Amino acid sequence: MMKKFLLLALTLFCMEAQIEAQSQRPKILVVYSSRGGNTRGIARQIHERAGGDLFEIECITPYSRNYNTCLDEALRDQRANARPALKTHVNNMAQYDIILLGYPNWWASIPAPIASFLEEYDLSGKTIIPFCSHGGGRFGQSLMAIAKLEPRAKIGEALSVSYSGGSSLPNDITAWLRRNGITAQ
Ligand SMILES: Cc1cc2nc3c(=O)[nH]c(=O)nc-3n(C[C@H](O)[C@H](O)[C@H](O)COP(=O)(O)O)c2cc1C
Repeated sequence: MMKKFLLLALTLFCMEAQIEAQSQRPKILVVYSSRGGNTRGIARQIHERAGGDLFEIECITPYSRNYNTCLDEALRDQRANARPALKTHVNNMAQYDIILLGYPNWWASIPAPIASFLEEYDLSGKTIIPFCSHGGGRFGQSLMAIAKLEPRAKIGEALSVSYSGGSSLPNDITAWLRRNGITAQ
């Protein structure tokens, strides 16, 4: 009888300790924009390891599926400092501590929908950790553009990935998350 009671008490204690540890973990949002799918694939891999919630930024009017037309549209938006209207919105942004923010390098900076996203939410006091898929230009000016739009957020160490990434991507993601203080699940 006594043994059973002790076992039950121990089980309850362990469960409580586990709940306590989980509630102390920072709440993570993996958020991304992707036209061609490269950033989406990277975001999914990051989400698998980091946990938290996964969210795709989508525009009401998508960019063209034709690559050259999209290049023109993106350049037009960058020059006009445009803020395309977004179709998707995050519920209760206040609950998140860390925003893992993914985007493709567009004309050496962030795509305009990322600027729309950063202007929609006040991320003051949160940590933004950027990840950028590119075709050779790495981050371009994108990290400066993010810092300018969210001056009171902390910017973590960013990750640049060539297109969809190579065979080392899973290990690169795990090491990068660890350098940012996020332990893979
Ligand atoms: C409109 C547009 C502009 C781009 N500008 C650049 C650039 O300036 N530098 C660069 O390295 N890659 C550039 N790229 C290539 C993309 O960053 C690259 O293909 C990326 O993997 C696309 O990600 P996604 O599949 O998630 O859309 C551009 C692509 C597009 C569509």
